Amino acid sequence: MSYNLLSGKKGIIFGALDEKSISWAVAKRAHEEGATFVLTNAPIAIRMGNISDLAQQCGGARVIGADATVVSDLENLINQSMEHLGGKLDFVLHSVGMSLNVRKKRPYTNLDYDFMHKTMDISAISFHKLLQSLYKADAMVAGGSVLTLSYMAAQRTFPDYNDMAEAKAMLESITRSFGYHYGIKNRVRVNSISQSPTQTTAGTGVGGFDSFYEFSDKISPLGNANAAECADYCITLLSDLTRMVTMQNLFHDGGFSSMGVSHRIMDRLDLLQSAE
Ligand SMILES: NC(=O)c1ccc[n+]([C@@H]2O[C@H](COP(=O)([O-])OP(=O)(O)OC[C@H]3O[C@@H](n4cnc5c(N)ncnc54)[C@H](O)[C@@H]3O)[C@@H](O)[C@H]2O)c1
Repeated sequence: MSYNLLSGKKGIIFGALDEKSISWAVAKRAHEEGATFVLTNAPIAIRMGNISDLAQQCGGARVIGADATVVSDLENLINQSMEHLGGKLDFVLHSVGMSLNVRKKRPYTNLDYDFMHKTMDISAISFHKLLQSLYKADAMVAGGSVLTLSYMAAQRTFPDYNDMAEAKAMLESITRSFGYHYGIKNRVRVNSISQSPTQTTAGTGVGGFDSFYEFSDKISPLGNANAAECADYCITLLSDLTRMVTMQNLFHDGGFSSMGVSHRIMDRLDLLQSAE
């Protein structure tokens, strides 16, 4: 169902690799809500994924490759997007993350530090690079919205989330710090959504994903939020309905972040104990 929340708005959406990607669902919802936008991803992801199918489903959206860690790529993306869309941007979604330590299954107590630098650059510093490039190009309309996606390992320990935990902590800090400067400059909002575990390429790459997906689902009163539900929440943050929300990390997790223990988990532990 469309509410026309993004009618006439222009933007850039990062990170749609395949149908499972959270930003794939956001792009489809943004199109339904009346937005026009450019889709972007790292050139290799554009070659390997199926972003052109998504572009077709979104009214023939333009796809422009950019490595989010390379400032000149970001500058080119921003300039070309403004030219193509015919003006400044109302919204940008940064949905980018990757850890080589996670990919190569390095345990947290035996990290490769070159990989760790890459994790930080791709998953956190790229957000600063994007914000700074938008800021310098004066590319956002007054009151525009820049949004990124985080995970609760920024606040609490999830042993297999590895160095992505540090990246998400930095990402949320950049959200607050740049949110201040961009708010002062021209009321641009900068926020992160902290999403439930979601079955995507990045998500399922984390060790023990199935168990912590299950745990999180069982402890949250509403269960895990899926990618489509995350997309709905993203749309509200990209719309004019949230003009006074900035510098926030907003949990979209079915209540997980406020829980201690749930009856569903206690019942399972009781069952295990009585079987011992
Ligand atoms: N899946 C989950 O459980 C979950 C939970 C909370 C937050 N998130 C976050 O949501 C975001 C999107 O991830 P997803 O779950 O949709 O997985 P995904 O794998 O579909 O998306 C990650 C995207 O990052 C892109 N990317 C990686 N390196 C890049 C680079 N150098 N330049 C440009 N793009 C690059 C990938 O190509 C991919 O499209 C990530 O920040 C992730 O950490 C995911």
